[in-house]
Amino acid sequence: MRYRRSTFVLLLCVLAGVLPGRALTPVAARRGMVVSSEPLASDAGLEILRAGGNAVDAAVATGFALAVTYPFAGNLGGGGFMLIRRANGESIVVDYREEAPGAASRDMYLDAQGNLLPHASTVGALAAGVPGTVAGLALAEQKYGKLGLARVLAPAIRLASRGFPVSYYFAESLREHRELLAQFDASRRIFLRNGRLYEPGETFRQPQLARTLAAIARRGPRAFYRGRIAAAIAAIEKKYHGLITRKDLAQYQAKLRAPLVGHFRGYEIVSVPPPSSGGVVLVEMLNILEPLELGPPNSYQSIHLITEAMRHAYADRAVYLGDADFVSVPVARLTSPEYAATLREEIIKAKPDAPLQPGQPAAGESSNTTHFSVVDADGNAVSNTYTLNGGYGCGITVEGAGFLLNNEMDDFASKPGAPNMFGLVQGEANAIAPRKRPLSSMTPTIVTRDGKLRLAVGSPGGGTIINTVLQVILGVLVYNMDIRMAVAAPRFHDQWQPDKLELERWGFSADTIEKLRAAGYPLEYVGGLGEVEAIAVDPQSDWRFGAADPRGDGKAVGY
Ligand code: DON
Repeated sequence: MRYRRSTFVLLLCVLAGVLPGRALTPVAARRGMVVSSEPLASDAGLEILRAGGNAVDAAVATGFALAVTYPFAGNLGGGGFMLIRRANGESIVVDYREEAPGAASRDMYLDAQGNLLPHASTVGALAAGVPGTVAGLALAEQKYGKLGLARVLAPAIRLASRGFPVSYYFAESLREHRELLAQFDASRRIFLRNGRLYEPGETFRQPQLARTLAAIARRGPRAFYRGRIAAAIAAIEKKYHGLITRKDLAQYQAKLRAPLVGHFRGYEIVSVPPPSSGGVVLVEMLNILEPLELGPPNSYQSIHLITEAMRHAYADRAVYLGDADFVSVPVARLTSPEYAATLREEIIKAKPDAPLQPGQPAAGESSNTTHFSVVDADGNAVSNTYTLNGGYGCGITVEGAGFLLNNEMDDFASKPGAPNMFGLVQGEANAIAPRKRPLSSMTPTIVTRDGKLRLAVGSPGGGTIINTVLQVILGVLVYNMDIRMAVAAPRFHDQWQPDKLELERWGFSADTIEKLRAAGYPLEYVGGLGEVEAIAVDPQSDWRFGAADPRGDGKAVGY
């Protein structure tokens, strides 16, 4: 009986053009696919694809839906990067990273003695950068979408006004962040019901957020950056001694940028330029690894060589990278194969435990960010990572408007040389200045071969993001893993400083660990690195294969 029913379900699915994913098989679809960290948000994207929307329409719908169903990282009050690759081969980055307010200054998080003020860049109004998400999603929709903002906002508005059932993981994450959220009135009321915590299965409604979204649907991003909502943001910033003013909001613009492009073993790697470090560091690592024999996946040989590439590229990140609209960043030199060759020689010569300095180019982790990937029937693709930075951002919900503000200012070097919340040590290039964008590690990436889409991938994880994306790309391109295996495979991370090699706790054999230790790597175990939401396109059949990371609660859906 069970056999007959599953055969029937399978038949229905095949007729519908979609095959159900089981525990470790990717979800397969012939036409379109959406993968995000939250099932209802993935469904919102699929609804829009089915309604005739393209990948950008679906991505914008998913982005707004995550702001409702995944307030941990989905947002209106944060920022990010959307990489779009159109079926005609053109690629564009929408940079909607937050910006330092006009009154921000280099030493704003230091006391009179030059010491870091505890929590100033992570909790409360002073931690927030000028939000970019609404401008970025609206710009993407206006330039590259088909259906228009009002239609793609409909699922998010519905989810906010009718509510949705609280999942086990959402209830847990609210419980874990109750100390942060309890500090601010609107957050305490909306997310904690003044202390009566949400239980799994209860309905979570957000009428204020629904009104905010409806205003954006009617009047576009102006509704957010000017008028009532902008006034509410400025008022809450003032109440809690932050810097963001109505003028900062009125001036904010999402920027269209050319993507950063690299090459690896016959593939084209399309990723994001500064103010993210993601593309530069990813391409630098792939350049180093290009000709090396990496050995079997997660063997000593592969972990050693990849870790050394990580250390070199992250050391360069610390010194050279910042917002290229403000400081000069040697992007071309850092991503040149010649420079990678010099680093490769050093790696081959040096002992793994030798200290390492940034190069001279020719002259813990939780997952508080979120990534989603979309491919449509025509082959347009979107790879989008956006964030509030920490889970629930700076903790403040804008009174009357129902959304949280970010704490992205912590991504700047508050005190050059001192580590930020991800332990990243950064330098002058990433010092704070008015309207500058803090350096990001977000790495939404698309891989193509011979002009054909092969992969859309990205992850949360602060400083670990770039290494996570690297390992998924290597899993598919070098080790021929299917996308689900590449996403599920155990991961490791080294960011140069602090000097440690992090290994996912359950992923590596005792023999390999012993060899790494004997070679001098300072090892540390971590729970999980990143949460990848990826889509691979089979080069022969053109089928789409989606994989939501088993480290999270996401979902791949297709049709
Ligand atoms: O832009 C960045 O690199 C960070 N704000 C990303 C934050 C993040 O991934 C949080 N998750 N651990």
